[in-house]
Amino acid sequence: MRDYLHDLSRPSSPGHAAFPRTRLRRNRRWPWIREMVQETRFVAANLIWPIFVIEGTNRREPIHSMPGVERLSIDLAAQAAEEAANLGIGAIAIFPVTPQEKKTEDGRHACDSKNLICETTRAIAAKTGNRIGIVCDVALDPYTSHGQDGLLRDGYVVNDETIAVLCEQAVNQAKAGATLIAPSDMMDGRIGAIRDALDESGFQHIGIMSYAAKYASSFYGPFRDAVGSAKNLASGDKKTYQMNPANSEEAIREVELDIAEGADIVMVKPGMPYLDIVRRLHDSFPVPVAVYQVSGEYAMLKFASQANALNEQSVVMESMLAFRRAGASAILTYYAKHVGQWLAE
Ligand code: PBG
Repeated sequence: MRDYLHDLSRPSSPGHAAFPRTRLRRNRRWPWIREMVQETRFVAANLIWPIFVIEGTNRREPIHSMPGVERLSIDLAAQAAEEAANLGIGAIAIFPVTPQEKKTEDGRHACDSKNLICETTRAIAAKTGNRIGIVCDVALDPYTSHGQDGLLRDGYVVNDETIAVLCEQAVNQAKAGATLIAPSDMMDGRIGAIRDALDESGFQHIGIMSYAAKYASSFYGPFRDAVGSAKNLASGDKKTYQMNPANSEEAIREVELDIAEGADIVMVKPGMPYLDIVRRLHDSFPVPVAVYQVSGEYAMLKFASQANALNEQSVVMESMLAFRRAGASAILTYYAKHVGQWLAE
């Protein structure tokens, strides 16, 4: 044994040269030193909590593909935002579940100042003041009868015509009190157009968090159940505008353009299967990166925990650390409230 150790410690043995004098386990010996040398941490302020909102009052509905997540009526959503603010959570992201009868080919309801996302924004702003950020999603899928994020012409989602509606939608949300506008539609050029539209309407101070590297992922399945767009989309997909999961170089181009057009924060979505993209963007651009732990990731963690295959709190907290280690500043997660509570314990 002695000879073996000696052998490894020879300078001619690269990587092992310093053993046995160097022992990395020394810095792992006690809790105090593990915490002292810990390279990344996260706090509740790093979190953004996506919530699903329905019409009515005092109503909550379970989402079967996302156990533990509920669709909430506006009053309960405002209450949830208040709880999140008290936990120090950075922001809340509102996703409206639009009643089918309000969905149309052109998704016009997106621009109605009395739609669900605007009413919820006002209710949350009234209850929380500026103690928590209010993120509003810009895309037409909650409002279109076909479930696509943009306008459909001959089966194709048209870019420039869609942008005109997105600009109106963004200004509509800003007027209701949104504090961060989050375009998730992946049309080309929409960040610049939305920036101009916001500025022209006096919303120079309202930031844009771009879903810049958003992939055409199968991990969005439960979300589409939650907002009820799955049946509208039917056999359709979003591959003509969302990114190919095989691509990484292209994420650089997407983000380069979005920054040039005025994005304040750029997002990678989904999260855990795309940590390489988070790291790459963080290393390539001096702009904050957000990451979205999407519905399918939530479902994986939740169902495995329910089956006692995983310890829920440990794996969720580990996933938060992994996002931070990869370089994310903001983490969108359906676990935000739980994480906030676990951090407060
Ligand atoms: C749609 C949108 C989607 C999500 C956020 N905004 C789904 C999609 O692109 O079909 C997915 C979020 C999740 O899966 O948690 N604009």
